[in-house]
Amino acid sequence: MTEKTKEISERTMKELVRKHGTPLFLISIPELKKRVEIFREFLPRVEPHYAVKANPHPSILKTLIKMELGFDVASINEIKTVLKLGSSSEKLVFANTVKSPEAIKFAKKFNVDLMTFDSEYELTKIAKLFPGARVIVRIKVPNVGSVVELSLKFGVEPADAVPLMIKAFKLGLKPVGVSFHVGSQCTEVSNFIEALEIASIIFHDALLKKISLEILDIGGGFPIKHFDDEDDPFPSMAERIRAEIDRLFDKNIRIIAEPGRFIAGPVCTLITRVIGKSIRNNKHWYYLDDGVYGCLSGIVYDHCKYQYRVLKKGTTQLSTLAGPTCDSFDVISISEELPELEIGDIVYIKNIGAYSLATATNFNSIPPTKTVVLNKGG
Ligand SMILES: Cc1ncc(COP(=O)(O)O)c(C=O)c1O
Repeated sequence: MTEKTKEISERTMKELVRKHGTPLFLISIPELKKRVEIFREFLPRVEPHYAVKANPHPSILKTLIKMELGFDVASINEIKTVLKLGSSSEKLVFANTVKSPEAIKFAKKFNVDLMTFDSEYELTKIAKLFPGARVIVRIKVPNVGSVVELSLKFGVEPADAVPLMIKAFKLGLKPVGVSFHVGSQCTEVSNFIEALEIASIIFHDALLKKISLEILDIGGGFPIKHFDDEDDPFPSMAERIRAEIDRLFDKNIRIIAEPGRFIAGPVCTLITRVIGKSIRNNKHWYYLDDGVYGCLSGIVYDHCKYQYRVLKKGTTQLSTLAGPTCDSFDVISISEELPELEIGDIVYIKNIGAYSLATATNFNSIPPTKTVVLNKGG
């Protein structure tokens, strides 16, 4: 695969399978670079801080460090990993609003002083363990239609943001900004538009209380295409977001974002093989060598729907795809139109880079899916 090639060809896929076997998780570094370039092109004022949780594979992190991205980290190990790979602490935002005391102490030790919070308890904890830390209040915003809803568990009511920032100041912290998350795989631009308006009111109200905020963190949620027949929703959304940021926020306000799926999603392909076949209730069942306990775990944790492709042509019939474990829950899809497959045939899934490898388990002691990094130096 060369840098110019968008798709992995069938021939390359077969060669990789011959060499490495299956299941195989491919990471394309040229595609990763392209994702960053697209984000920067469409949202030039926004500094992307890659959400490490989406896919913490070292090849991805190393490439993003070289491209001078910042990182959204959520745990001690994520901080450790990115710092060890060469990122600097100023590039990090500790964007887990609920941090263990140990994690706050660890952040202090390594100077990761920018962090989000969404409760008074968290503020008190941070103030005690990391006096002087710069804090960003995460507000609750509409998550309408987003595939992964985040506003139930996180965010304060917008009306509580300024009082909490006053509290932060009194506790010896530095209240520096506002953050939100519109929900993951958000295709409703109105969520971003409303969130930006709410945040701008908070910036204004904070100033009236003599708190001059300097950072707006617009979170993640930027959507990707999972199916061939979908339009890419990002360009038109980004245009609206960009215009709204410019309308509402002064040029000297630093705008950061925490894209995870947008950066990592389209970068990876999972190649599996049919390892078993049966006919149940007049329907073909194909058992693959990866499933919902492995790299297809996004079906469960990320509520993700994927397009399953095969290298075969022919008349299709409604079929079921299942994973390799002994749990009846390990069913990938019960309604795929597929040509008849045989043991050994390949089924592959594109755009599976986010919340897949990261959430895979080794249930049934099945070894982790092998990863292959394409064009490492490219
Ligand atoms: C705080 C925070 N930031 C960023 C992200 C990344 O979101 P996405 O992958 O939708 O861009 C998440 C995802 O759960 C998150 O919880």
